[in-house]
Parts: sequence; C-alpha cells; structure tokens
Amino acid sequence: MNLQAEGSGVAATGERTSKPAPEPLYGGKAGRRVTVRDIAAAKARGEKWPMLTAYDALTAHIFDEAGIPVLLVGDSAGMVVFGHDTTIPVTVDDLIPLTAAVVRGTSRAMVVADLPFGSYQGSSQDALATASRFLKESGAHAIKLEGGHRVARQVEDLVAAGVPVMAHVGLTPQSVHAFGGFRVQGRGEDGDRLLQDAKAMEAAGAFAIVLEAVPAPLASRVTESLTIPTIGIGAGPDCDAQVLVWQDMAGLSPRTPKFVRQYANVGAILRDAAAAYARDVVSGNFPGPAESYQ
Ligand code: KIV
Repeated sequence: MNLQAEGSGVAATGERTSKPAPEPLYGGKAGRRVTVRDIAAAKARGEKWPMLTAYDALTAHIFDEAGIPVLLVGDSAGMVVFGHDTTIPVTVDDLIPLTAAVVRGTSRAMVVADLPFGSYQGSSQDALATASRFLKESGAHAIKLEGGHRVARQVEDLVAAGVPVMAHVGLTPQSVHAFGGFRVQGRGEDGDRLLQDAKAMEAAGAFAIVLEAVPAPLASRVTESLTIPTIGIGAGPDCDAQVLVWQDMAGLSPRTPKFVRQYANVGAILRDAAAAYARDVVSGNFPGPAESYQ
C-alpha cells in the first residue's frame, strides 16, 4: 500500500522541517494522480484551473503532458465521437472503453467519467451500479452526473459508498428536450432555483460542480456561495475552473457555441494533411525509398 506522506513538518529526528510549497493544480509536477484533496486545496488557495474533455488515449496523453489536471470523458462523446445530435443516445457500454483509454493514456490527470442519460436518474441503486462499472471496468477516478435537488439522494449515496461525485447544473444537455433546446439557464427568478440546486449538490457531498450556460453574474454568486469549486462552461470568468470540449477548443467542431474560444485550427491542419497525403498517393510520390523496405 502506498501511503502518501502528509508533510507534518517534523522530521524523524524531531527537528522541525520547512514544508514544501504546495504544487499548483495546473502546472504542478507531482508524480502521482491529482485527487479530490488537491482540488479542494486549490479552491482554498483561490487558484484557477483548466479542465478539458478527452475520449482517447493519445489525445488524453497530450493534455496530461500539457498539465491539464482534470480530464472529463463527457457524454458529449455522443455528439463529437459518435455523431449524434444530442448526448442522449450514448450508453454506458459506449463510454467505458473510451474512459479506460483516457485512464491508460494519462499518469497525472484525474479522469472523471460522465454517467449517461438513464443510468442514474431512477434510483441510488442504478447510480451506484453504473458508477461501480466505471470505477471497476475503466479505472475512472470520479464520476459526473447532471441535476440538482432531484439527484441529491443519488449523490449522497454515491459519496457514502466512496465515489467522488462532480455535479452539473444549468444547461444540463441530457434535459435538452425538457428545456426546448440548448438554452441559457438561470435567468431571472430561475437564478435562485439554480443557486439552491448548487447548494444541494454541495450539501450532498459533491467535490466540484459544473455550471453550464448560465449568466456570468449568477455563476459568480454561486461560486462565492460554495466551498466546492465551480467549473464554468459558458458561465463567465468568475468560476474557479473552466472546461471546454476539446474539439471545440482546438477547432475541430464545425459549429461552436458563443462561449467557446478556439485555440487552434486542428480541423484545417488535418484537412490539409489528408489532402497532401492523397495527392502524394495519386501522383505515386508516396511511399518513396525512405518509407520502403529493401
Ligand atoms: O459531456 C460533457 O462534455 C460535459 C462538459 C461539457 C461539461 O458535460
């Protein structure tokens, strides 16, 4: 068993030692996985941090090398990996192999698995059965689920069973049909309800909460009211952390919401690479002597 040293500041000789400065969550070099304790400590230090989605080992490895401390295997895979119009069709069996690949591709990031629609809303038993599959079969370190008060019992029971839970309120895409589309949530009087939902998630034991597509002033109010970190996506600059779907962030998605900032144009790079490869094959320029066995 690998018990991590707590850093008491007292050496075996009884001499007082100086504690090393805590590693920042983003950019830290710790040779171990990020844990829920690191995330709580970052909130206490007032430190902001980035989260990205990931769905395969190679991309996850790159994000891990870039120091992204938390990777989410989102049910957004339903859209960006499997090509559905919403996240609703994606299944547990779809997501487990993707999550296992992300775990295998990383050594530092905490890997959070999204529980798909229909796999946890019915009861705590359903939620625990689904979460157990993710933790056992994929090696995920935590799970995420959508909803406030209506899933508080599930969150309490998961946490009691030892499963770290990330909550998600605001525009919860699994409820897209109930919302009548992908619409900003929490405007006007709905803001108080959203704040109560967020507080219910904290009270139930969630270690962090995603706020999706909510007005920036409301996200700021929620962030000030909670002791757990808020992770914004379309929720303004005052959240403790930010998350984006990586294909949106890197310019692979054909259409992106207003809240996305595109940091690269990977779509154009891939298109150019595919076209150059095709031209070389058609002209007989590939493979050449360097790519052939003699
Ligand atoms: O499924 C997902 O990718 C998500 C994030 C956008 C928060 O839930």
